[in-house]
Amino acid sequence: MENVITVLVEEPDGNQTPIEVPTDMNLSLMEVLKGSGYPIEATCGGMALCATCHVEVLKDPGLDEAHDAELEMLDMVPNLTDNSRLACQIHPRNEFDGLTVRILGDH
Ligand code: FES
Repeated sequence: MENVITVLVEEPDGNQTPIEVPTDMNLSLMEVLKGSGYPIEATCGGMALCATCHVEVLKDPGLDEAHDAELEMLDMVPNLTDNSRLACQIHPRNEFDGLTVRILGDH
């Protein structure tokens, strides 16, 4: 099996941009989004402490449950949605192909 999945990022205009995400490089979704040019500050470096990597999951292929630290941080974001996650706490795996997110951090 190839260790690359496609994650779709919904842009403010509603279009969805596919990005290729390696699943064998131990990258978080936050790091991949940053590397793809999305303006995520990630001031905490991926420690679930800043929420600048806040995303809304529009299509969930079966992500792991958020852990307590992530939920506590999400509780503090002003634009929380029912499907909010911190991208730094999502570690892409092959079965997450088709994951679709909208970036909400820093808005
Ligand atoms: S990068 Fe800071 S919470 Fe995700």
